[in-house]
Parts: sequence; structure tokens; C-alpha cells
Amino acid sequence: MPKKHSPKPKSPSRKPKRRSPNPPEPAEQGSARRASETSARRVSETSARRVSAPAAPGAMLSPAKACSPAPKRKTSSLLDTRVIFCGDNLEKLKDFPDASVDLIYIDPPFNSNRNYEVFWGETREKRAFKDRHASTAAYIEFMRPRCLQLARVLKKTGAFYYHCDWHASHYVKVMLDQIFGANNFCTEIVWRRTNAKGLAFRSFPNNHDIILFYTNGQRHIFNRLYLPHDEKYVAGFYANVEPETGRKYQLADLTNPNRDRPNLTYEFLGVKRVWRWTKERMEEAHKKGLIVQSRPGAVPRFKRYLDEQKGVPVDSIWSDIPPIQPHSDERLGYPTQKPLALLDRIINASSNPGDIVLDAFCGCGTALVAAENLGRQWIGIDVSPTACRVMAKRLRDVCGLPEDEALWKAGRGFVVRDLPWTVEKLRAIPPFEFENWAVIALGGIPNKTQVADRGIDGRIYPLSSLPRKSGEAVGELAFMDAWYPIQVKQKDKVGRPDIDSFEAVMTRENRTKGFFVAFDYSSDALTEIDAFFRRSGKAIIPLTVKEILDEQIAKKLA
Ligand SMILES: C[S@@+](CC[C@H](N)C(=O)[O-])C[C@H]1O[C@@H](n2cnc3c(N)ncnc32)[C@H](O)[C@@H]1O
Repeated sequence: MPKKHSPKPKSPSRKPKRRSPNPPEPAEQGSARRASETSARRVSETSARRVSAPAAPGAMLSPAKACSPAPKRKTSSLLDTRVIFCGDNLEKLKDFPDASVDLIYIDPPFNSNRNYEVFWGETREKRAFKDRHASTAAYIEFMRPRCLQLARVLKKTGAFYYHCDWHASHYVKVMLDQIFGANNFCTEIVWRRTNAKGLAFRSFPNNHDIILFYTNGQRHIFNRLYLPHDEKYVAGFYANVEPETGRKYQLADLTNPNRDRPNLTYEFLGVKRVWRWTKERMEEAHKKGLIVQSRPGAVPRFKRYLDEQKGVPVDSIWSDIPPIQPHSDERLGYPTQKPLALLDRIINASSNPGDIVLDAFCGCGTALVAAENLGRQWIGIDVSPTACRVMAKRLRDVCGLPEDEALWKAGRGFVVRDLPWTVEKLRAIPPFEFENWAVIALGGIPNKTQVADRGIDGRIYPLSSLPRKSGEAVGELAFMDAWYPIQVKQKDKVGRPDIDSFEAVMTRENRTKGFFVAFDYSSDALTEIDAFFRRSGKAIIPLTVKEILDEQIAKKLA
């Protein structure tokens, strides 16, 4: 929970704060400029070093750093970070103090035909969403109180990014203008998320998402980011190579476009012109070998090195970040998962290391992983317990961050709060959520559909069956066949008939081991499990919810 509660949590329906009638200053002005320049310099220094390296899609010239093994972090005195809250963000946000978060990114379920809001396929969540958001107006009314809360918790120097698509972006913008103030709207970012050709015969395919970027005042953090120049540009504009160093350069114009500059009009290397620089600066550059005269009498030019250029500033069209590919390491199978590169860019641009990043609709936790990788503090909220478990597993697996209360208190690790995970609560959650919970708790992969896949609710791919070396030519995909089925029943007493039907599944699939999860088992069921093993050599491992909650299952899973 946040450390300090606002003395009086403000009602989400309170009026938005009055905004300055003047348009915001550009980031280059005032103190914001100084802060921004410091950070931008840091970014561009990195840029200069890396500018000629070939860029991967979405690669940015920014100081991204790799996952580090759970370093101890400076914590905020205002609220707890490295926490995932399970629950409706409207309720959770009411506990956050005013002006406590530096950067907010949200990617809420859309009011669109796409299955954005679906967690792994056809679920009840989808139907619930469809009922709830029957119209755009209802969607906006669902989002408005949440965005009011988010505006309240955002610092005056903070930034807010709302990710949506063309179905609702214009309605969302009107709502956000009312909440943040139209003057605090910065940029409509267009992210090309696919190259799909669908509908190309009847219209232009809608292949982009919209990300609306607002600030909460005029002194927001903004680190200018750069992309490397593309190869064609380099070949065309930096064709000269310095033989001694191999550095690429272009010869840049030194004459001044303003002809009326008497103090800059003088003769240099025998040529009289209106120059850009003072005579002293020209002489100094000449001494350093930075001014080139191709032949006597030719107009001198300046050597501009490619490796000293920052690159191309990132603008509002983001077409260099591809969606997550089917075989990408990043992919978790969550249909609305966004690429890490997208979140890296937002976090790098609008926060500095140690700042607090909040994602209040965090799905499988992309923003949290990006924030962790980039050395930011983070807080996630999601209403789906399954999503919370998935993102917790992701933080553990991808970032090596321990999920541990004691370590979290010591400034390491993270915690998940308010999961409905007690035996009583697990009895009450919808069957599909229960199945997901059980399969994920066992380290398995749940089915993508709500209907069990021919009696199998999930599969475990044991680590020992993974190929030892990647790229092994023979039997490279053999491990795909080494899996164990999981059967889940949200039942108090699993009986003999349930075991009989799981035995049929194991025989049909020719599996040597399978897992059964339930609250308890009848003695008939346990006797049959033993008999099945004696008859067939196939082991059914009966696990109870209590054992899983008490984390007593490691030996049985081995
Ligand atoms: C589009 S997904 C976010 C995907 C995320 N950006 C990612 O990369 O994984 C939207 C998420 O919002 C969650 N959600 C929907 N309504 C919510 C609410 N009222 N409070 C918190 N989370 C909510 C859903 O459970 C879903 O996981």
C-alpha cells in the first residue's frame, strides 16, 4: 500500500485543476530546458558513440541497460514501489497520494472489435467487457474517473501516455483535454503496429495504434531521443572517409545565409565571404585540421564527422518498432502484449533513473519489465489475477527479481498485493481463472481457450527436456513432445470417475506423467491413481490447492 495516504482522498469526480491559459513552453525553455539538456546530453553522448553501429528495429540511441540481478534501490518516501496490485485501478488509485508518480503509461482494454481485452482467447473477461462497454460513451465514462485519478497522482513534472487505437482515440483525446487541459497535450504518437493487408480492397488498412502524450504542467521531464541515420543517408551524405582514422565525414558549408553580418565578413584562406563563425574560431578549427580547402581559391568547408552526430530525432511517427513476432523470446501469448522496445522508448523519453513509473492496466507487465531494466521504480495494477501472476513470473524469469516480502522490505525484490489467493477465495473465482491460476502456479502453460483441450487444461514442458545447445540440428524440436498434461478441477473432492477420465487422456496422449489439481481427493481416487501406476507405469500426481498455496509442491513437480 502507498506509504502515505492523502489526508482526504479526492473524489474522482472532482473538477480538474485550473490550467494555465497559455500554451506550454517548449521543453527548451527555463529550468525544464536545463534539466532536459543535461539528460539529452547524456543520451546524445551515447548516441555519438553508437551512431554508426547497425541498428536493430526499434533500436534507439539511448542509455538502455540490461537486466541486472535485483540491485538495491532507492525507494520513494511517498509510496511503495516494486508492487503489483491486483484489483480495479479506480479503487487502488484512491489510496495513492497526490503528485507522487513521474510517468504513467496505460493501455486499457479498447472499445473495439479487436480482442484486445481478452486474456488468452475466449474468456469470460471478454464477455464481461463487451457487456460493460456496449458503446463508446460507456467506454469513455468507464475511463474518465480512472484518468481523473491518474492526473491527480501524476507529479507536476510528470508525463502521461494513453495507448489506444483509431476506434476511440478521438473520443479519448477530448476526454483527456478536459482532464489534463488541452494546453498540456504534447504529441499524438502513431505507432505502426502491423503491415496487415486486411481490408486493403475496400479501404486503407488501419495498421497503427495511437499513443496520446500529455504532461501535467510546463516543467515536464523530456529526454530527446535519437535514431541512427539509415545506411542510404550515410552513403549519400557521409561518403568521405578519413584515411588515418577511418572516420566518415561530410564537408559542410561554412558560409552564412545572412549576407548582412559585417563582423563575420572577412577573408579566410584567400576567400572573402560572410562566414558562420568568427575569424578566431575559424583559425582554431583550421589548426585542428577541421577545415578543408580542396584547391587554392576554393571555398573552405568544415569536416562534419558522422560519429559526432546525434542521429535523427525520434518524431511522432514510430514505424521502427515491430509488433512482437510469433517466435520472439519476449512473447508470452498474451494477445495485447506490447513490445518492450515501445515501452523502453516512452520510459527513456519521459523519466530518469530512479523515477516512478505506473502502469494501471499492466496486462503481462511489459511496462514494469522495461522500467526495471532501465533502473526506474515501478508500480503495476491489473484487475485480472491471472495477469498479475503472469507478470510476476515474467519479472522473476526475465529480470531475475525475487518475489519475496522480506527482500522487498530490504529494498530488493517485489511483491504482489491483494491477489484473491486463499483457499476460500480460490473456491469463489470463475473456473477459467481457477484453471489459469493452477496451471501457472505449476509453471505450466494454460490452454488458450476456455474449453479444455480434449481433457487437458494446461501443459508443463519440463526444463530437463529442453535442448542443451541452441541450434542443435538433430532433434531440435524434440522437447516439444516432452510435456506433461495438467487437469484442473475446482472441486472439493475429486472422485474415481475424474481420475478415470484423466487416465484416458494420458493413455491417448501416451504421457508418462500428468498432474491433477483440486481441493481434495476421495480415497477411491487415490487408490485408483496407485493402481493405474502399477498397471501402466504412468504416474498421476495429485496436488491440492493448499499444497500449492503453501508452496509444498517442488518435490512432486520434479
Ligand atoms: C490491453 S491489456 C494491457 C497490455 C499491456 N500493455 C501489456 O503489454 O501486456 C489491458 C489490461 O487491463 C486490465 N484491466 C481492465 N480493466 C481494469 C481495471 N478496471 N483495473 C485494472 N486493470 C484493468 C485487463 O485485465 C488487461 O490485462
